[in-house]
Amino acid sequence: MAQLQGQDHLDVPENTIVPEKIRAGIALQINGEGYRHTGDPDMPLLWYLRDVLQLTGTKYADAKGLGGADLVLIDGKATSAITVPMGKLAGRQVTTVEGLAGADGALHPLQQAFIDEDAIGCGYCTAGWLIAGVDLLRRHPHPSDADIDTLPNLCRCGCQSRVRKALQRAGTAKGAQA
Ligand code: FES
Repeated sequence: MAQLQGQDHLDVPENTIVPEKIRAGIALQINGEGYRHTGDPDMPLLWYLRDVLQLTGTKYADAKGLGGADLVLIDGKATSAITVPMGKLAGRQVTTVEGLAGADGALHPLQQAFIDEDAIGCGYCTAGWLIAGVDLLRRHPHPSDADIDTLPNLCRCGCQSRVRKALQRAGTAKGAQA
């Protein structure tokens, strides 16, 4: 550093600049990849997925996550992404709809069943149904109507009966319960 002539130190009052602590960050896995969030720990997971990672398959439902469009799997359990802050996710495994297909691009059996049953209208609700369905099939490999009725998801396009068929079709498919 260049020496200032005739001056031993810069004339700056003490404590003018308060250094910010380095944030160690929140390490988590999303769709099998490691990430470290160093921003606001109160940021909802949904905004991290959509705005930071550009994973826009998961949709905004409302501030409480009603309707299920914002569901993701956290450690295998379907959870509303708008209600979970990043600060709660250290060491957790998150799977979004973008992570349901296999590494070779093969669709998850439930995704295939949605196609086979034509269970997609505008598609806004579809990611949430798929995530809720994967969780349901893990707990109830052959879901009954009553099991499906426990899901929180809504479809404004009126696809519920075809979604129901897709879920029951996937229950007979190999690998749907993984
Ligand atoms: S397909 Fe449009 S809201 Fe469900």
